[in-house]
Amino acid sequence: MGEILDGKKLASELGESLSSEVASLKLHGVNPKLCVINIGDDPASKVYVASKKRKADRLGIKQVVYQLPADETEEDVLELIDSLNADPEVTSLMVQLPVPPQINADRVIERIDPEKDVDCLTPANIGRLWEGKHFVEPATAAGIIALLDHYQIDLTGKNAVIVGRSNIVGKPLAALMLERNASVSILHSHTRNLAELTKRADVLVCAVGKAEMIKADMVKEGAVVIDVGINRQAGRLVGDVDFAAVREKAAWITPVPGGVGPLTVEFLMEEVIKLTRRQHGLD
Ligand code: GUN
Repeated sequence: MGEILDGKKLASELGESLSSEVASLKLHGVNPKLCVINIGDDPASKVYVASKKRKADRLGIKQVVYQLPADETEEDVLELIDSLNADPEVTSLMVQLPVPPQINADRVIERIDPEKDVDCLTPANIGRLWEGKHFVEPATAAGIIALLDHYQIDLTGKNAVIVGRSNIVGKPLAALMLERNASVSILHSHTRNLAELTKRADVLVCAVGKAEMIKADMVKEGAVVIDVGINRQAGRLVGDVDFAAVREKAAWITPVPGGVGPLTVEFLMEEVIKLTRRQHGLD
């Protein structure tokens, strides 16, 4: 039976070192500040934004949420981004996704100053990520790499298979895994014979958002299985992996909840601190 990759425990350990880092920055007059722009009433976004706020409060990081109405114009959002880009007190900035249909998400994200782009979603920072010369990393992908590092799971030469090609998880994680010398495949909804490919994975990551889609017969004996999915099913949270059955075959596996989720918020705060240090010439 596979051992648990305990993201919750690692996140809480990292949280302690982050809060002492924030305290020491403040002693030197450096104040990390994260601004989150949330447009409209997407219920999942409200939950994410609230959990970031709680974490920021706990660490002593200032966070301001700009909650804009669902009918906000793109022009007004761009103007707000311009003003936050220009404000030296704002060290990190993100636009919560999804945005309402009248707003072009690409145009809005591109407007964020790459030096404040805490999600690593601007074209400049995505380019840097694929060059292997990045100063910011997307939080979920960074959290997964940290989890593997913590349990001393080396990616060199491993067959890493990522199911899901989102800009937020799948694609940036592929870049970070390549940096760690894994051979990386990204699978998606058009992939033929998905199970044949997942079965070849030494490290299998699923980030699709489809409850328990990864079954035991899709996983190689002894694989490391990372589940990024958070799905509500019959009133409980389940991942993209059929946890109980897959655990029987895996060497290591993340639970849902308590696996990747807690690391995502933790690493977002870590990225806020990284950007703040860089803006103050401390990196
Ligand atoms: N919506 C869901 N996850 C994310 C994320 O990581 N960043 C942003 N900007 N929006 C999201």
